[in-house]
Amino acid sequence: MVGNKDTNWIERSFDVFPGGSLGEFNLPREISTVLSHGKGSRTYDVFGREYIDYSLAWGSVILGHAHPKIAEAVKKQVQKAFNFSYVTEQALELAEEIVRTIPCAEKVRFAASGTEATMYAIKLAKAYTGRDKILKFEGSYHGAHDYGVMSLFPQTLVDFPLAQPTSAGTSQALSQEVLIAPFNDLETTARIIDRHRDQLGGVIVEPLQRCTPPKEGFLEGLREVTRQREIPLIFDEVVTGFRLAYGGAQEYYGVTPDLAALGKAMGGGFPIGAFCGKTEIMDLCIEANLGSENYVWVASTGGGNPVSMAASLATLQELRKPGTYERLHGLGNALREGLREILGNLGITAQVIGDGPIGQVIFTGEKVIDYRSVFRSDRAKGRRFMLGLFEKGVFLNPLGTKLYLSLAHSDNDIDAFLERGREVLETMKA
Ligand SMILES: Cc1ncc(COP(=O)(O)O)c(C=O)c1O
Repeated sequence: MVGNKDTNWIERSFDVFPGGSLGEFNLPREISTVLSHGKGSRTYDVFGREYIDYSLAWGSVILGHAHPKIAEAVKKQVQKAFNFSYVTEQALELAEEIVRTIPCAEKVRFAASGTEATMYAIKLAKAYTGRDKILKFEGSYHGAHDYGVMSLFPQTLVDFPLAQPTSAGTSQALSQEVLIAPFNDLETTARIIDRHRDQLGGVIVEPLQRCTPPKEGFLEGLREVTRQREIPLIFDEVVTGFRLAYGGAQEYYGVTPDLAALGKAMGGGFPIGAFCGKTEIMDLCIEANLGSENYVWVASTGGGNPVSMAASLATLQELRKPGTYERLHGLGNALREGLREILGNLGITAQVIGDGPIGQVIFTGEKVIDYRSVFRSDRAKGRRFMLGLFEKGVFLNPLGTKLYLSLAHSDNDIDAFLERGREVLETMKA
């Protein structure tokens, strides 16, 4: 599939971007590329190559690329204004829809990214309780800020709740402020919470951690433990929001946190973030309280910009149509079941995990329940599989995170993926 490359594009890219990437893509130089445009489930590069896109801008393009309804809404909006950093009719409409839709949302503020959204949610929880420590789960990601990268990809497995920064440049002092717990292990988590209860300002969790679903009762138990001890529970719904169900993981798993962060799919591909939750916590950022002990500073130049708001409103209008979530789940199931069948037929030991329109292959014989079970898997094999798919014209992130599906993906796109997946796996069998 690799066409003749004018290597100048690649050289230019590596000259100006560290690793020739916009961040965390890590494609080897020989297969690196520069993209030109997209349509539906397809992405095209400057060399004229067509890819079936299973990255979808890390899951944000949930309707597919250049969706005409979003394009039309954005075109209309850009003729009116680009940004005010103030309440607009579009921001108001979207905030009202979030309050109607997301179970925990009583009040909302917008941000420009998921990173910003989780950062504010964490700050609000700490301000509300007046306590500094935050509990997060090993291997969870909440954005690139200091909290988000604590024990994100730890290469040494240490005792819980010790936190290790995955990124240099993270404040050393934060290791003392972050507690790390094992996802899906309620008993250990509750023990850590109890031991640090007097200093614990909040618990943040990805309800579907990366691609690992919560065990039955885990989120319910976490809700109960945090409620009893009056510790705010934050759902990071940057991935799950408007994706697992219209009301996100809260609706899908039937558990309501105190605060939630949203992003990605909500913007249909445009930069967006939002955090929402209980009024008594959200109101800590009312500017009239500046100077008071628990006032939280919230300011986002790009947050709530009317172009992203218009894109989001158009996206949500499509997502509200009957059959959306049946279709997204149907696509995800077809992908995961198809992969399981191929792996089984080839006698390759692996787990196919995920939920809704998200999937991942983990080369391990053990059940994947947390970061450590992924860490023990054959991760080099995982990367080989992803790179093999990329070389066959499947656009994805070889970091081995998630395969994302959109409403634009057809049954044929699934078949094509599985066919290419089979070809790659056959070469890896030996
Ligand atoms: C669960 C989760 N939270 C937060 C973020 C950060 O979002 P953004 O990249 O928009 O800052 C991500 C990004 O991948 C994510 O997966």
